Amino acid sequence: MAASDALVAAARAAREHAVADFSRFKVGAALETADGTIVTGCNVENASYGLTICAERVAIFKALSEGHRVFRHIVVVADTDSPTPPCGACRQIIWEFCGDVPVTIANLTAVKTTLQMKDLLPLPFDKRLL
Ligand code: THU
Repeated sequence: MAASDALVAAARAAREHAVADFSRFKVGAALETADGTIVTGCNVENASYGLTICAERVAIFKALSEGHRVFRHIVVVADTDSPTPPCGACRQIIWEFCGDVPVTIANLTAVKTTLQMKDLLPLPFDKRLL
């Protein structure tokens, strides 16, 4: 399932806000909720390094904090030729809060690929196992 142009544009715009003073690797994410709202995020780094939070998790936590609970699609944008996929921590959070959504990976000029979360996180640990 293709991401809308608006969702990709929102992820690119969010990337501009990245706080990436240490890695210089700016990432943007845009999440489409069930009612069509777009919620964005960017990566936020800090001097402890380890407390860095990725763009995807910022977008998801923002959306949850605003009351959204059902999500349709997430787009991730970085300025790389090869697709930049969500890290392992983000895959867990995307899976738990968004389920088997399409994950579209784009750069500043092109959409690279769309993958399903079930393929990015096979055999997931989640609340069904608790
Ligand atoms: N990063 C993201 O925000 N999302 C990803 O999918 C990959 C990595 C961030 C974390 C860190 O601020 C920088 O990119 C370099 O790892």
